[in-house]
Amino acid sequence: MTDVIAPWSLVEHASLHSLNTFHVAANAARLLRVTDVAALPEVLATIVGSGPLLVLGSGSNVLLAGDPEGTVLTFDNNDVRILEHRADHAIVRAGAGANWHGLVMWSLAEGLSGLENLALIPGTVGAAPIQNIGAYGAQVGDFIQAVEAWDTREQLWVRLDQEACQFAYRDSVFKQEPDRYLITAVEFRLPLLHELRLGYAGISDELKAMGIELPVATDVANAVIAIRRRKLPDPDVLGNAGSFFKNPVLPVEQVDVLLQHYPALPVFPGNDESNRKISAAWMIEACGWKGQRDGDAGISPNHALVLVNHGSASGAELLAFARRVSASVLETFGVPIEPEPRLIGAQW
Ligand code: FAD
Ligand code: EPU
Repeated sequence: MTDVIAPWSLVEHASLHSLNTFHVAANAARLLRVTDVAALPEVLATIVGSGPLLVLGSGSNVLLAGDPEGTVLTFDNNDVRILEHRADHAIVRAGAGANWHGLVMWSLAEGLSGLENLALIPGTVGAAPIQNIGAYGAQVGDFIQAVEAWDTREQLWVRLDQEACQFAYRDSVFKQEPDRYLITAVEFRLPLLHELRLGYAGISDELKAMGIELPVATDVANAVIAIRRRKLPDPDVLGNAGSFFKNPVLPVEQVDVLLQHYPALPVFPGNDESNRKISAAWMIEACGWKGQRDGDAGISPNHALVLVNHGSASGAELLAFARRVSASVLETFGVPIEPEPRLIGAQW
């Protein structure tokens, strides 16, 4: 006998403690888990009029500064399969609820490359396009062929191709129009072979230390995993959401002026030739915040961009601490820094 899996379930008064990696206390009036996404329109019809809808993956990029209103929706569809094999690439389709790092390691084991620099990023496949997750010189948008979603505004299924997704640094059409698109699956175009990106600080050295001279994609993933484990706190041990602030993208002219005053400020390529990304971590550390705390809210001693919950800080306390950090960076460098995670129950 096979178990019949219900297409969806609804729980009232659900704790969100394990659904956010800051591990702050918060509750949802209704928590809706959808396994069979084909049932989504019909399920949504049953909750019409009961307030807004917030999709959560694993809550690794949200700060719950209060209880979300209405209904929290999560997707449990985690099927991953190859749709098509071509001479030099394959098309892979993954359900929104699939674990991101699991997909990366699965794709490498299938002989597909592209996602290796994005290993060990927490979260779900459905959330990856939202801020166009990026790390170690790669961004997921470059490998996305299409995103499947329910458009809550037009009330219809849509399939957005790569161009329609408007990917940029930590940005996309989904981030610009929060809650409009409920992403149910993502299609990736993954090369069989491609030029490995080893240029980002640390990867080549890590590979050398691992004794690898001619790396393949899996070696790069293992190097990235090792670097990340050293630098970033494990949210299961110390609550955090990765980088709390985005690196500011500024016009080249402004960056040149900053460099005259602060020649050590790390500068990275921007979205195009007219701008550059500067290191928010460096500015925060220069302002003396690294390792500081007030009660249980603080900045990681290992990485200045990571806001941490040392135990029982509330979302509001974490937010208040982050505002102090941002105000001092603005005062010292004249540069506003903005949160990367989505704030729930508060405005920046
Ligand atoms: P959530 O936090 O649950 O949601 C994030 C946003 O996406 C919310 O606005 C939510 O409403 C929306 N959303 C989620 N799922 C869907 C869906 N199916 N449809 C529509 N909207 C949806 N990010 C990087 O880019 N690079 C990194 O290197 C990186 N490192 C990290 C390291 C650590 C230790 C941590 C804790 C976080 C890190 N992050 C990084 C941030 C985070 O992992 C990513 O943003 C991830 O994609 C969030 O996935 P999630 O499922 O937890 O999304
Ligand atoms: N730095 C400091 N102090 C620190 C940490 C870093 O001065 O405490 C300086 C160093 O000079 C370092 C530079 O900042 O060379 C860059 O640091 P790092 O390589 O750690 O990258 P980042 O800019 O801090 C970004 C992403 C990360 C991603 C890494 C690796 C953003 C907001 N963050 O961090 O993404 O993993 O690059 O590519 O773009 C996330 O988004 O949650 C996240 C963790």
